[in-house]
Amino acid sequence: MIILAIETSCDETSVAIIKGNGGLKNPSFEILSNVVLSQIKIHKKWGGVVPNLAKREHQLNLIPILKKSLNKAKLLSAKIKNKSSKLQPKTEKTLRKILEREPELLEQFLNFIPTIKPPKIDAIAVTNGPGLEPALWVGINFARALSLVWNKPVVAVNHMEGHIVASLLAKQKVIEFPALALLVSGGHTELVLIKKWGDYKIIGETRDDAAGECFDKTARMLELPYPGGPQVAKQAENFKKYPLTFRMGGWTRREMEREAFNIKLPRPMIDSKDFDFSFSGLKTATLYMLQDMKERHVNVGDFTPMICNEIQQAIIDVLVSKTIKAIKQHNAKSIILGGGVSANKELRTQMKKAVKELTSTALYLPPSKLTTDNAAMIGTAGYLHAVNKDFTKPEKLVAEGNLEL
Ligand code: KG4
Ligand code: ZN
Repeated sequence: MIILAIETSCDETSVAIIKGNGGLKNPSFEILSNVVLSQIKIHKKWGGVVPNLAKREHQLNLIPILKKSLNKAKLLSAKIKNKSSKLQPKTEKTLRKILEREPELLEQFLNFIPTIKPPKIDAIAVTNGPGLEPALWVGINFARALSLVWNKPVVAVNHMEGHIVASLLAKQKVIEFPALALLVSGGHTELVLIKKWGDYKIIGETRDDAAGECFDKTARMLELPYPGGPQVAKQAENFKKYPLTFRMGGWTRREMEREAFNIKLPRPMIDSKDFDFSFSGLKTATLYMLQDMKERHVNVGDFTPMICNEIQQAIIDVLVSKTIKAIKQHNAKSIILGGGVSANKELRTQMKKAVKELTSTALYLPPSKLTTDNAAMIGTAGYLHAVNKDFTKPEKLVAEGNLEL
């Protein structure tokens, strides 16, 4: 089965083509193409994602990205004769209605889609939530438009399910159930119990900020650019990597560790009996710590690598500890990591070590490149639904910003 997938839930525009085999029992995948265009440069100057800017960028970029994706997957046919490269008037009328809120996309659609043969795909998968609604709608309306013209069924995919199944793209052995997924992204931090594909139960989640959000907000306090996660990780890596006598700013690492200036942050809810998380307290503690340093005339800039290391370690400690507890309580046979924060190398290393030493559970990590938002993971989840003929009527598709698993 070949799935064309579309992802526009946040600030990445992506179209992928995925070949799925083996059904629900033994699913395996081949990525025929996965084109991702990040809008980070555009949102950076605002310090975060601006929904209407994201919507506009998705609109402008979907057709070029689709073209690239079809081309890479060798599914882009030679142009058909000009005479036939027009839609039926009735189809065109419906299409204009579907894309009436995306005029730039409509124009590019009409100039391109009728000129190519419908590609050999079996279904179209699209993210319908959670995410930014204006951004989600662009992908949804694009999927509806393609479904109309190519006469293909549509699968609605929950973005978080995409992050769960991204690990299936790592070409590992079959994931055994019950499995547990730790999803850590910019908007979510959840532990999900999985009895089988499609059967998800959230057993713990953040009560306030997500782990990624905590990385992003504390990075901002340290005047590091958006998105903060990779920046904090880079600073922390430098801190760990340099020898004790290496000078960072005005200090050697040894001097820094000796002085420390109370660079110690809490591990919120690490001992709570449930599987919930809370990261807003960590953010506030960081703020107070920085204020305190400034009051003592400490140059915070000199200590950025050390502070980043502490922020990262506080987040990792909580994530690892709760995950291990959940694995034991639910006798999970597999543990899956997913979401943008699972790109964090230290988290991957420390989780691997803890899972190996403390449990007999198999750990599945998504390929690093597929941890942040992409359509390949949406196509993967789409396949798991399509094999069950779990399609949604195109006219029934809606964007749900707060869609739950
Ligand atoms: O899954 P994702 O791409 O988008 C959402 O669905 O939210 O996750 C984005 C989040 C951001 O908060 C970003 O700072 C974080 O993932 N992130 C990281 C790293 N790479 C991305 N956090 C920590 N370490 C990283 N290496
Ligand atoms: Zn995501």
